[in-house]
Amino acid sequence: MRRYKVEGHDILVAHTKSGFHAISNQCPHDIIGLDLGCLEGEVVRCSLHGSRFNLTTGEVMNPPADESVRVYPLQIEDGVVMVEIGKYLDK
Ligand code: FES
Repeated sequence: MRRYKVEGHDILVAHTKSGFHAISNQCPHDIIGLDLGCLEGEVVRCSLHGSRFNLTTGEVMNPPADESVRVYPLQIEDGVVMVEIGKYLDK
């Protein structure tokens, strides 16, 4: 996992067995970066209180967070991961 801050967007890019994923880096429960958490397969776990988020859908999987995170579309061109920050998929 790696965090990128671009044009006001705080984005977590994760590389898993299924490929690359880009989601909002901020845990909706409190102000902490998900990049400080753990990658567990296709899920990221927040380091502060343990909520988990699906990297593909942004869906929150357990409390205490009760909101999903944004998912950013991405594509890979010539080995470069490109995240579309102008578009995001609200969940
Ligand atoms: S800050 Fe992430 S679950 Fe509480």
